[in-house]
Amino acid sequence: MLADKDRIFTNLYGYQDWGLKAAQHRGDWDNTKALMGVGQDAIIDEIKASGLRGRGGAGFPTGMKWSFMPKESKDGRPSFLVINADESEPGSCKDREIIRHDPHKLIEGALIAGYAMRARAAYIYIRGEFIREAETLFKAVAEAYDAGLLGKNAAGSGYDFDVFVHRGAGAYICGEETAMIESLEGKKGQPRLKPPFPAGAGLYGCPTTVNNVESIAVVPTILRRGASWFASFGRPNNAGTKLFQISGHVNKPCVVEEAMSIPFGELIEKHCGGIIGGRDNLLAVIPGGSSVPLVPADQIWDCPMDFDGLKEVGSGLGTAAAIVMDKSTDIVRAISRISYFYKHESCGQCTPCREGVGWMWRVMERLRTGDAHVEEIDMLQQVTKQVEGHTICALGDAAAWPIQGLIKHFRPEIERRIAEAGNMAEAAE
Ligand SMILES: Cc1cc2nc3c(=O)[nH]c(=O)nc-3n(C[C@H](O)[C@H](O)[C@H](O)COP(=O)(O)O)c2cc1C
Ligand code: SF4
Repeated sequence: MLADKDRIFTNLYGYQDWGLKAAQHRGDWDNTKALMGVGQDAIIDEIKASGLRGRGGAGFPTGMKWSFMPKESKDGRPSFLVINADESEPGSCKDREIIRHDPHKLIEGALIAGYAMRARAAYIYIRGEFIREAETLFKAVAEAYDAGLLGKNAAGSGYDFDVFVHRGAGAYICGEETAMIESLEGKKGQPRLKPPFPAGAGLYGCPTTVNNVESIAVVPTILRRGASWFASFGRPNNAGTKLFQISGHVNKPCVVEEAMSIPFGELIEKHCGGIIGGRDNLLAVIPGGSSVPLVPADQIWDCPMDFDGLKEVGSGLGTAAAIVMDKSTDIVRAISRISYFYKHESCGQCTPCREGVGWMWRVMERLRTGDAHVEEIDMLQQVTKQVEGHTICALGDAAAWPIQGLIKHFRPEIERRIAEAGNMAEAAE
């Protein structure tokens, strides 16, 4: 189990005050000027060496992403950092805890990351429903300005840096980085075609990096304690500590910081009081927020909770939000409900997604009740393949994968329902 001394988020549960004074007491904003003093490229190198990979879902190496930003502006355009606090992925509930209880980690991280990538300002885009969290964030940013930690000569570093907080209106698609940029510009939140990539032309046509809240909030501690300290947790290629979020059929659902690569079973036994009804009662787990395929009980228990481990069992770490389902779950209904979510959240821009996700949900509903033919299972599988990889953004993939996981692991259950419904129809005749 991760030792308390190795936790980055020391106020995750809000036992202490979130305000500036208490945050400073916990070590935040401690000589930030010196951390920045090593220089922009040295900071990027240190983050690269730490092995930090994006915590927003895709796991792209953070230091490498920053290195795509221009080192100097040849045409006078400023650069920007956009911090993704949209957190609308079903099951995900970590970024809100950081903002509620440790907002200064995020704000200090914004300054350091922004400086490293030569950004003029950071825009924190926070999900519309996070009303209390936004209030805290506004206050924390104001505190930082009042203390001279932001604005001109931020933290005495000689670097001018602003942080703006922008509230979204509550649309899942605005969590996708280019939709977020559109939304920040005051437009409808619809993803852009790439290229151009945001590092070339992002917010207001300027070089932009979009990073998740957790990715940015861990930066100051990594620099203070060193890349090798961070890299000492987890398996190679899967470094660091990580906020795991466990919901569903466990005795104590929670958000907890643990070392990457902790086996699923250990995570559940140590922090969640085990599966309701015991280990044998586990049916399946969606390990990374709703957008990844489910993993059946027998494959997940010993699986390392990291990028590579979950890939090996045909799923993904995503946001590390594990949705645990015991044997009382109607698994077909659960996946159908997820399909409904993606149908509802599709921005409608590309045909395979707009038409496909609604079509998939309607078939899922018929499979749920058994009102279908067995051949339709293969047809549904084919349609998921026609949506996957054929859309502007990854929402299409996110809608396809849970269904593919269901068909792969629970086909007999779907067939049973169809047979049962068929038998009942015959009996009624
Ligand atoms: C439909 C959709 C929704 C997304 N929602 C979020 C989100 O709420 N928060 C987030 O950090 N990333 C979200 N992402 C991923 C972002 O596009 C982007 O990859 C991420 O913010 C990059 O940050 P990172 O490199 O620090 O992980 C979403 C992606 C898609 C396709
Ligand atoms: S995949 Fe769906 S959500 Fe993404 S751009 Fe296309 S229609 Fe919009």
